[in-house]
Amino acid sequence: MPVAHEEFLTYFAEAPDGSRFDELDLSRVPRHIAVIMDGNGRWAAQRGLARGYGHAAGVAALREVITACVRLGVRALTVYAFSTENWNRPQEEVNLLMSLFASTLIDELPLMHREGVRLKYLGEMDDLPDDTRETFERGLRETADHTGMTLAVAVNYGSRAEMLRATRALARRCVAGEMRPEDIDEAAFSSELYTSPLPDPDLLIRTSGEERLSNFLLWQLSYTELVFTDVLWPDFTRWDLVRAIVEFQGRHRRYGGVEDGA
Ligand code: FPP
Repeated sequence: MPVAHEEFLTYFAEAPDGSRFDELDLSRVPRHIAVIMDGNGRWAAQRGLARGYGHAAGVAALREVITACVRLGVRALTVYAFSTENWNRPQEEVNLLMSLFASTLIDELPLMHREGVRLKYLGEMDDLPDDTRETFERGLRETADHTGMTLAVAVNYGSRAEMLRATRALARRCVAGEMRPEDIDEAAFSSELYTSPLPDPDLLIRTSGEERLSNFLLWQLSYTELVFTDVLWPDFTRWDLVRAIVEFQGRHRRYGGVEDGA
């Protein structure tokens, strides 16, 4: 597994009770984990704080999960940071989130360089404020040659919009005579999605007790194992990640077939 053993052991030393770390099978860590980071607002409200404090605490949780995924040998981590519906939030919160994305990306560049993390953007970048868009462009440029884990950040992302965009791209290629409608198969469709060429996620985690997909990766999650936890995103730690992976490892993925030997 592509992890520095020493660093791995240090990062996962002192497993707390109930972490299930001893049950973790390091040879079956999911290749691709997707996360709906939910509950920042409630975390702040529980402390009598403005929602922005919850988002700032959410950044710290994200940093921990990125590092943990790298140490575990996860090849891709996709996080849902801002949906196409999130523009409906109060303008002040939208502005705060956009600045937080930009400042976080700048702050985390050293981590991405150190760990060889390659940034990927999922969504419609053109609609972002100039400075946020430019920061994403810079992050993509500066990490393009990294060969470690891919960190895919979904901002101004909506799965239905993504699928319509893919459909239009394929229709245009048919009209241009580059392909025939019969050539449109799952691989051709997948290749037009923002997530291409990442493999579909093996595991989706949603925090904060909500149990829905909220227009996130609807095509890509067809066979993904879903793990929901009540933990609010700012409280989510490497140990919650381990618990989710252990739960994933206990599931039997059959892809519509039958169990081996059944
Ligand atoms: C959902 O909580 C969280 C968000 C809309 C924002 C998540 C963003 C971050 C953690 C920053 C990540 C930074 C980068 C660069 C990717 P909510 O506000 O919907 O919480 P609530 O449901 O409790 O109100």
